[in-house]
Formats: sequence, C-alpha cells, structure tokens
Amino acid sequence: LPLLLAGCSERPSFEPAQINAAPIGKGLPPGFLLGTSTASHQVEGGNTNDWTDWERGTYPDGTPHILHRTPSGLATDSWNRFREDVGLMKRLGSNAYRFGIEWSRLEPTEGAWDAEAAERYRQWAHTLRSAGIEPLVTLHHFTLPRWVAASGGWENPATVDAFERFSGRVATLLGAEVDWWCTLNEPNVLAVFGYLDGVWPPGKQDERAMATVLAHLFEAHARSARQLRALDTTDADGDGRATLIGLAHHVRVFQPSTGATSDSLVSGLTDTFFNESLPDALRTGHVSLVVPGSVSLQRDVPGLKDSVDWFGINYYTRDHLRQDASPSFSHKYVPAGRDTNDLGWEIYPEGLYLFLKRYAAMGVPLVVTENGMDDRTGERRPYFLRSHLYAVERAVAEGVRVRGYFHWSLLDNFEWSEGYEPRFGLFRVERDFGLTRQATPAVETFREAARNLGLS
Ligand code: NOJ
Repeated sequence: LPLLLAGCSERPSFEPAQINAAPIGKGLPPGFLLGTSTASHQVEGGNTNDWTDWERGTYPDGTPHILHRTPSGLATDSWNRFREDVGLMKRLGSNAYRFGIEWSRLEPTEGAWDAEAAERYRQWAHTLRSAGIEPLVTLHHFTLPRWVAASGGWENPATVDAFERFSGRVATLLGAEVDWWCTLNEPNVLAVFGYLDGVWPPGKQDERAMATVLAHLFEAHARSARQLRALDTTDADGDGRATLIGLAHHVRVFQPSTGATSDSLVSGLTDTFFNESLPDALRTGHVSLVVPGSVSLQRDVPGLKDSVDWFGINYYTRDHLRQDASPSFSHKYVPAGRDTNDLGWEIYPEGLYLFLKRYAAMGVPLVVTENGMDDRTGERRPYFLRSHLYAVERAVAEGVRVRGYFHWSLLDNFEWSEGYEPRFGLFRVERDFGLTRQATPAVETFREAARNLGLS
C-alpha cells in the first residue's frame, strides 16, 4: 500500500510562466555535473555484437528488426570523431559526459583483449579530463559481445562471471582517469523488451526468463561494483574518492486512467515491478520479483546492499494505465490532447520532480543520467530542457541531493528499434551529408544553464 500511495500522491503542476521566468541553472548546487549522455552502440559505429546481428536479422530468427531496415552501421562515427564531439561538449559549456564502453570491442572473443580499442578508450577519458569534462563511464548499455549472446546472454549465470571479469579489466584500464562509474543501464528495460515483449534481442516472451535475467543483472551490478572498488584506487578528480559507483535506472510515472480500484491496483503493481524492484533490492540486498500468476523470484544477492554511491534516474515520460486481461494486466496509452514528443511519449516534467523526491529516500545522491525528447524540428527542445531543469531545481530547493543532470543526447543517434528516425540530439546529425553536426536551438538553452551554474 505505501508504494501505491507513493505512486499516486501529490501531483504538482508546473506553470509555464514560472518555468519561463526561472533563471535556469541558478538553483543547481556547487559541483553539479551538467552534461550530456550517449551509449557506445548508439554512436560509435562499426560495432559487431548481438544488436548488429538483430538489426540485420541474422539473429535469432532471420527477420531484420529495425524501422526502415536501417542497421546502426556507422552511427555517428564517434569512434573516429571523438575529438569533434568533445568540441560540441565544450560549445555547450558542459562539465561532464556520460558515455559507454563497448564490451564487444574490448573482448571480441572470450578472454581476448583488444589493446588498440582499450588505448582509444583510455585516450578518450584522458581527453575529457584535460578538457575539464568529468567522464562518467557506463559498462553495459544493452549490447553484448556475440560470444556472450551465443552462450545464453543474461539468462546464463556464466555471463555474470564474465561481466565481473570484464569490469575488473576496465577498472584497471581506466581507473586513473575515471571516478564516476555506471555499471548498468536500465536493467528493467532490457529485461522487459528482450524477454517479455520480445521486441529487442533475444526476442523472447517468457516471464520466467525475464525475472531470471533481471536477477542476474542485479547480481552483475553488485559484482561489477566490487571489482571497480577493488581495482580502481586512483582518485582522478582529487575529491578524496577513487570511485563513485551507481547505475542508471529507467523510471516512468504510471498513472491510473480512472479512479477505479482496478486501474489503481494495476498501476501500483506495475510501479512496484518496474520502478521499485531495483531500488528495493539495493536497499535490502534481497531481490524480490513478482508477476502475479506466473513468477515469484526471491533471492539474496551478496554485495548488493550499499553497493551504490549514487543512484541514476533515466526519466522520459508518463504512461496512463487501464486494467485489462493482457499479459501485462493493462492497456497503456496517452490521452488525446497531451503534449507528446515525436515518438508519442507524453511530456510530463513534473514526473522528474516526483521521482527525485521519492528516491531521496535512497540515502545517496541522485543523478539524472538521462532525460530528453525526440524532437524532429528541434524547436520544442528548448522548453523541454528548461522545464526538466526546473523540475531538478525544485527538488534541490526542497532538500533533495542531486549531483548531476545528463541530457539525452549530445547528438542524434541510433535509437534502437526506431533506427535513425527519432532525433534526440542537442546537435542534429545530417546522415545524408557526411554525418555533419549542427546546433539545434536547445544548445543556447543548455549554454544559459551552464553560464548560470558558473561553468562558462
Ligand atoms: C534510454 C536508453 O538508455 C537510451 O539508450 C535510449 O536511446 C533513450 N532512452 C531514448 O529512448
């Protein structure tokens, strides 16, 4: 019951006039990380992993899976244009960058280690630090090396061992330049899309497999964190701490579509499973995953409790839920007339404020590890950015410890199933014109926030 209430209580409503009048960035605390976020597979280009096989359809079932059949291909070619991208970060006035390292590049076959790729990542971290941009490194952002996927991916407990070993090697490789580590990105999304909805690799629809995968991911986080702490002993930014470990959790507001008990109940259940399973496991060290009628997985995971120094929130939208007889027990929709992004997701900045308030109880500082919108003209992103920074500042003003905000994304990139149609970038990438980068109007908004924060 408390969770049901936590999901539904106190619904603030922000006034556009207030948002527009706020000196954006002024209300952020000193030392705040104001940056952008990307993921290895979405920007690097030229990768070979489970996703590239899924894109082409060579895995697992012969069907290409991406809108318009466009594989990730060259992506934004950031593998070769990293310095140019750092130039964009400087232009924003940002002081931090969240990026991923690609397991399949570093360990293309089991036990192998690509020294050239490793050196390139080391250079990147060094380049960022020299440019005054704090690197925040994600170790796993949805993709797996082929050899891991072939042996069962996250369903196989051996993947947890392999990821732990990989984390140790990365800690040794980058520890001298990196303090901020994000072990995993959105385990809940990976598990639900890959193993319940079947819309991402490996395309399964199996509730038990989904729960197993989620439990393995939580354990992988705990074991990765242990390796990072043991092997990264260099305090790169001189703040007295060699590691600041967290992970990025995808949260969504689940709004009952009517006052009916059935709609409230299903919203509460969905909220508990999707939003609360991970924070709850981090608080207690005990994983509890329940899907009524099919799954009840209960497991203690050593090292999970107190494994994070900060908690990352990826926030985009709110879903409205009406109870029905489908496998997820509800129909999700956006009521007519709502403000939506170009993928049809409702824009609801108040939700970010609500989650920051709610997760203040985690007892560790929070970081907005992702937040952004698909805006194909670029005209609406300035207000989106302003209103979501306003949400952060409201939470900060009410005493919530928020250490950073990372906008998704620095530049348009490969949006998984939707390929290159969505545009999430502060910088627009012209795919027909040599992947050139062009500022969208929100660059000015970001710069304003950076200036008000005292960054430039
Ligand atoms: C969250 C994911 O981490 C990221 O990979 C994706 O591109 C954005 N959401 C936008 O959908």
